Amino acid sequence: MKDFAPASERNKGPILQVLREILRRGDLVLEVGSGTGQHASYFCSQFPHVRWQPTDLPGRLDSIRAFQHEGALPNLLEPLDLDLLRGDAPIGFANAVVCINTVHIVSWKGVENLFSLANRVLPSGGLIYLYGPYRYADRDLEPSNARFHQSLMARDPDSGIRSFEAVDALAQRQGLTLEQDRPMPANNRSIWWRKS
Ligand SMILES: C[S@@+](CC[C@H](N)C(=O)[O-])C[C@H]1O[C@@H](n2cnc3c(N)ncnc32)[C@H](O)[C@@H]1O
Repeated sequence: MKDFAPASERNKGPILQVLREILRRGDLVLEVGSGTGQHASYFCSQFPHVRWQPTDLPGRLDSIRAFQHEGALPNLLEPLDLDLLRGDAPIGFANAVVCINTVHIVSWKGVENLFSLANRVLPSGGLIYLYGPYRYADRDLEPSNARFHQSLMARDPDSGIRSFEAVDALAQRQGLTLEQDRPMPANNRSIWWRKS
């Protein structure tokens, strides 16, 4: 039942270091696009006082459940169906929204819906954290990311590495203020915004 993504295994440690800085004891985290469930299970084991709500498309939930049952982690909640193209939120409140390597997979409408959802569920002071590759107006994409972008577009022309400036403008329109944009291994970024 459990799926396995090698990239999630590689990036979970560096992401953990950032999440240690930004999550607080008692937080409820809404994860969008949880994938295999590797991240959800690992972060729950590292943050026993944070509740983690994994979500993904309906066909992806079994692997998350398998990680949940194997880990027997009381803070890892039953995964819920969340399709960014529908735009509805499966829960009404979260202290943080976490979305890893997903905004280059969904269409731009899905990215718009992600930020609108964050605005709806976050309290003042809540944050949205994104991890993945981004393009910047003042420089070329790194060669590895340029190849990745081409491969994404060949599979789905509505997907692709997003412009940091366009995503930041979306966030601002939803009342979210950029807090940090940090380089991560393998030409990825950790970027987070806080609701004012
Ligand atoms: C590259 S995977 C990343 C998964 C996981 N966050 C990770 O880093 O291992 C992209 C994820 O986006 C999910 N996804 C694709 N379309 C989606 C949509 N419309 N709404 C929500 N999630 C979607 C996929 O099912 C998949 O789990």
